[in-house]
This record gives sequence, C-alpha cells and structure tokens, in this order.
Amino acid sequence: MNSKSLKIALLLGALTTSAMTNADAQSCGALPTHMRAARIHAPGGPEALRVESVPVPTPAAGEVLVRVHHASVNPVDWKLQQAGRLPFPATPGGDFAGEIVARGAGVDGYDCGDQVAGIVDQAARGGSYAEYLSVPVSEIVPRPAAFSMAEAAAYPTVAVAAWRYLVVAANVQAGERVLVHGGAGGVGSMVVQIARARGAEVIATASERNHDYLREVGVVQAIDYRSTRFEDVVKEVDIVVDTVGGDTLLRSAAVLRDGGRLVTLVGNVPPELCADGRILCPPRAPWNVRQGLEGVATLIAAGKLKVNIDRSYGLDGIVAAQQYNRDGHTRGKVVIDIGPGVEAAVRVPLQAYLDGHATGLESHFRRAFSDDAILVGTKDGRYGQRSAKDYIAQSASGHAPADEDRRRRWIRSVTVTGKVATAVIELDYPSMRALDHMSLVKFADGWKIVVKAYDAWTPALAGPSASGPSSARRH
Ligand SMILES: NC(=O)c1ccc[n+]([C@@H]2O[C@H](COP(=O)([O-])OP(=O)(O)OC[C@H]3O[C@@H](n4cnc5c(N)ncnc54)[C@H](OP(=O)(O)O)[C@@H]3O)[C@@H](O)[C@H]2O)c1
Repeated sequence: MNSKSLKIALLLGALTTSAMTNADAQSCGALPTHMRAARIHAPGGPEALRVESVPVPTPAAGEVLVRVHHASVNPVDWKLQQAGRLPFPATPGGDFAGEIVARGAGVDGYDCGDQVAGIVDQAARGGSYAEYLSVPVSEIVPRPAAFSMAEAAAYPTVAVAAWRYLVVAANVQAGERVLVHGGAGGVGSMVVQIARARGAEVIATASERNHDYLREVGVVQAIDYRSTRFEDVVKEVDIVVDTVGGDTLLRSAAVLRDGGRLVTLVGNVPPELCADGRILCPPRAPWNVRQGLEGVATLIAAGKLKVNIDRSYGLDGIVAAQQYNRDGHTRGKVVIDIGPGVEAAVRVPLQAYLDGHATGLESHFRRAFSDDAILVGTKDGRYGQRSAKDYIAQSASGHAPADEDRRRRWIRSVTVTGKVATAVIELDYPSMRALDHMSLVKFADGWKIVVKAYDAWTPALAGPSASGPSSARRH
C-alpha cells in the first residue's frame, strides 16, 4: 500500500463520536471512543506491561467516568499482576486523581468537571494506569484542596492502609510509643504522620539515606536497619506497625511491652507470636476506602498529612515505574502522569487549522498539516485533489477574512484509535459551507492532519445531500 492509499484507508475508518453505549449514562461532552492504557495479558511482572489502545469504559449506575490526570503505583499492583489475580487482559492500577467526564444513572453529589481522587478495584474492573476509568462513587472523594493532582493520586491506598492498621486495628492512643518498620515507604510515611497527629511518639526504621525524611515527617528516633538491630535500641513500645514482613516481623514481638499490639501489612502475624497472650495481635480490620479517606481528610486539610512524590513517570514509562517500586526503596510514592489526554493533543492541529482560517496566517496551516498531506473532496459536487502545500499557498492570505465576524467554524467530533485519529470540522461561511473529514496521524513532533476529505458547497447552489460523497463524480 503506498502512502496515499494508506491515508485514504485511514480516512475510510469508522467514524464514531463516543463510546458511551449505556443509555442512562450522561456524558459531560464529546468523548473519544478509545484511550491509551497500560495492559497485561497474562500473569507477569512490570516488564509484561504494554501501552495499548482500548475502548473508553461506560459508567454503570452509581459510577462516574473519570479522566485520569495521575495514577500512582502500589506494591499490590505488581503483586496482583504476578500472582495472576487480575481479570486478564487487564489494566492494573488502583490509585488515581482526575476529573469527572460522565456520570452513570443515579449519581448524586458529583458533577461534571469535579476533581476527585480514589481507589478503583483493579481486580474487578479496569484500573488506573489509563486515560479514563469508571468507578463507583463509593470509592471516590473530592480531591483534597491541599493536594496537587499528583499528590491526590499518590495518597489513597497508603492512607487507607495506614488508617486500617494503625487506627482501626491497633487503636493508637495519644501518649503511646509506636515503632514503624519501613517508615519512609508509602504506607510507613502515612503511619508515622497519622500516629504523630494522634499524639503518639514515633520511632521508625529505614536506611540511613532516609533519616532526614523520617525526621521531617515526625519521627523522634530513626534506626538504620542495615547497621543496627532495632531490638538492641528500642524497648517497651506500645505498638509495632510492620510494613516489611519476614524476619523483621518475627523479631518485633520482643520490643513490645506486655499488652502491646503487633500489626503487619505483609501477610499475617504468625499465631505463635501472640499465643501466650503477652502481646496482642489485633485482627485485620476490613478494607474500607471511605472510612480511611474520610479519616485522613481533616489531617490533610490541617497540613498534618503530606505525601512525598519520589518519582514521576509518563504512561509510556510504566514498566520502569513499577520496576522502581518493586525494588523496594521508594521514599513515599511513585506517580504516573497520564498527561492532558490524547484527545486534547489531537485538537491542537485541528485548532491550528481553524486559526489559519480565522487569521490567514501560513504558520497556523503549517502547524496543522503534515508536509505531504493531501486534500481530496468535492466543491459543489465537483471532485478535486491537491497537495496541502498548494492549499496553504492559496489559503494563507496573511490577513483575516473581511467577513470574519460572519464566519462560524467548529470541531464536530474527534475519534482516536491508537496513533490514528479522525475528526469532523464544520465551516459555515456566507459564501461557503463545508464538512471537513480529517485523518490525523501522531508523528514524533505531535499530531498532524494527513488527509482532508471535504464536502464543500456554495449555500445558494446546493446542500450536502445534493453534492455529498454519494453523488460525487470525477470530472
Ligand atoms: N494489607 C494491606 O492493606 C496493605 C496495603 C498497602 C500495602 N501493603 C503492603 O505493605 C508493604 C509496604 O507497602 P508500601 O506501599 O509502603 O511499600 P513501599 O513504599 O515500596 O516501601 C518501600 C520502603 O520500604 C523500606 N524498606 C525496605 N526494606 C526495609 C527494611 N528491611 N526495613 C525497613 N524499611 C525497609 C524502604 O526504605 P529504604 O529505602 O530506606 O530501604 C522504602 O522506603 C507492601 O508489602 C505492600 O504490599 C499492604
């Protein structure tokens, strides 16, 4: 297939305006049919992730569709992947922050454009490593005003986990001494700050490079687990919150006072550690997103709970992002910047084309078209074909049209499928009306129009039905 027939094949691709098929769902505006999402097709680690084009989901009753601005990585993401506990082919990712772009039936309390954060159940539905996700409103909260979008995507899972183990299970009290294993990690840093905010004194383990950070979040005694056995320097604590597991968990009973509480986020506390009743091993509390996020809301608003963003990656960097987190030395969180959305990027050359019409400036037209773009179509039923270069030379007058105030033009629809997009533009001028069907391709330097197929007519002569593609003939 030569480049011209390829372009025409692209042009003939399906032109749909929205993936919203649920009649009860209410879209806030035009939505693309497809989106970019990180996908995995069979059990595997970070290296098995690929960014693919998949349909944009439709929100069911009680759900909203969110355009994801940021997602964040948690160990549970790659653990579920590796254990094969995702609905393959799957989009992993739980944490997200973004804006509502469609609402399912019966959604109260959230409107189009609201900025929200939350946790999507990645084992049951599409996850957050994607441009859009559908999520029940029970799993979201308004984006905390004190947090950026990136921070709002970073905190949900670790805050809910910290609340679950420290507050609900271990029932921390003011004046108690708490030892946190892994205090610089995502969950650990939340546990430290929540414990401090509730009046406890906090000791934590981390490698030496993280000790300044531990002090920043409120730790009074930082222990380098690489050089010091914590049981040599800590005694008689009221609570141990373990986010490390293994040998660290097994050695922790020794540092608890009689009646002290031991909780772990990694597996279960072995029953023999609490069998003699000297220490307590509280049962794991239920996973409750709303309880956790509402529990920390006042602390965030008061500036008492912060989240450190260790690294940020684009969606194309998802493999490296998960690998970095799996290495086990994240300070706070790793976030994924999903970007402004592909549809917004596709609109850039389309807007440049409209701006070219409005101003007559060649630079706008040049921004809009690829160098070898072609224009094919009919004007008053007469078929024509020319290069974009010729079109620009003829159209770039260098000044705005004299009747610009009477000209109207707008983008009617945009559909993106992978690195190819189609769009329809409508022009309504006193002297001409037109429908421009644009085919666009994503190049290294951004999206460009590669084919413009037009149906133009002079209003006094004929409408599109008389001169449209079905009646077009070559002259
Ligand atoms: N059950 C639940 O509800 C639940 C919820 C969330 C998370 N989790 C689990 O909890 C664990 C922690 O999650 P996370 O998000 O906090 O992970 P994370 O952010 O990846 O934890 C990384 C941190 O662990 C520290 N670390 C590594 N080895 C250590 C050791 N031997 N002693 C002390 N600190 C050590 C690192 O500090 P250095 O760089 O200084 O080594 C780093 O700051 C994971 O296993 C996760 O799956 C469970």
